[in-house]
Amino acid sequence: MRRVISFFFIVGILAGCASEGLQDRSISFKQPHYFPAIIFPEGNEPTLLRFELGKKLFYEKQLSKNEDQSCASCHRLPSAFTDGRTVSSFHENEFARNAPTLANLAWSPYFMSEGGVPTLELQALGPIHEKHELSLSMEAVVGRLNSKSNYAELSKAAYGRELDAFVITRALACFQRALISGDSKFDRHYFLKANDYSELEKQGMDLFFSERTQCSSCHALPFFTDYKFYSLGFEDADIGLERRTYSENDRGKFKTPTLRNIELTAPYMHNGSMSSLEEVVSFYNTGGGTRTTKDSRVKPLNLSQEEERALVAFLKTLTDWNFVQNEKFLVAEED
Ligand code: HEC
Ligand code: HEC
Repeated sequence: MRRVISFFFIVGILAGCASEGLQDRSISFKQPHYFPAIIFPEGNEPTLLRFELGKKLFYEKQLSKNEDQSCASCHRLPSAFTDGRTVSSFHENEFARNAPTLANLAWSPYFMSEGGVPTLELQALGPIHEKHELSLSMEAVVGRLNSKSNYAELSKAAYGRELDAFVITRALACFQRALISGDSKFDRHYFLKANDYSELEKQGMDLFFSERTQCSSCHALPFFTDYKFYSLGFEDADIGLERRTYSENDRGKFKTPTLRNIELTAPYMHNGSMSSLEEVVSFYNTGGGTRTTKDSRVKPLNLSQEEERALVAFLKTLTDWNFVQNEKFLVAEED
């Protein structure tokens, strides 16, 4: 039996909609006890209307130049907030990257593959301005949205001020901090001692946490990332961390991605070059790529075919079905 945990609001979701206007109230995001407590930035503690405004903005197509794309075009709930495409144009075309999951960003110390963005609030400015993403100036966004009366009202009630860049970036961050995912078969087995792993999944887990593969030294608990930067040896044009540090030693290094919900976020790697988990595991087993900045732990592992299958089976236990089916992260169709 699956233990269903609703990782959501401790305080109810129903809005206190007073007749004379919108009424806001603080909420907390329910989180697993095996995750550390979230530290919210001052002035952006979660409230019901901040979350609702952020969600509305996340799905808002007016945020894009041609009114045809929103954040959710590239970050879709059923795919754990990825989009299934090889790359989704992001920086200049040569640096187009695979869209990452947005799960558990509340604990991320910085954002993007090179870690160049220090807060989730600031991160939202990137895609709105970016030529290959939504491609609109913040001024234009504010103008467009303020002409829709419900935005002005929501903004006032949630942040006590007119809708502007401050409000838009904060509300988007508030919504994204609620995207908490920690209810997978792995969590039930490992943290809640449910003991419902198959023999193959157990074997895969032992391998994942072993000295032999060292997978867990980079994909560390509880988020399956250590948030550090490494090269797996890819030789493509994307120089990764070097873009931020200007150091050739950092060429081709990328932030360790989380592996939570990995089964749903194909294709894989910053360049979307691998279409299956079998391919990823086989890549590691044969020692990764050839770039000289490659981390020394990425070397031939001599895994048998059965061991490769076990690792894949383990990775598939990291899926949190309650997360990707949580309707609170969706908006009702626009009227
Ligand atoms: C055209 C597709 C596209 C759109 C639209 C888009 N994103 Fe992204 N997003 C990406 C890609 C690709 C990356 C990875 C960039 C990188 O690593 O350098 C990314 C990265 C991110 C990250 C960083 C995640 C991390 O782990 O560091 C966040 C947060 C994010 N996007 C939120 C948003 C928000 C909010 C919006 C809307 C305002 C948005 N995105 C719109 C494609 C998109
Ligand atoms: C030296 C640190 C390190 C080790 C060891 C390591 N990884 Fe990774 N892993 C990374 C980094 C960094 C990336 C992203 C690389 C990129 O995009 O270029 C990654 C990417 C992945 C991805 C694709 C994630 C995605 O969203 O695209 C999977 C799956 C994965 N690793 C599984 C494993 C497994 C299984 C092992 C053990 C066999 C392992 N990793 C060992 C650092 C590591």
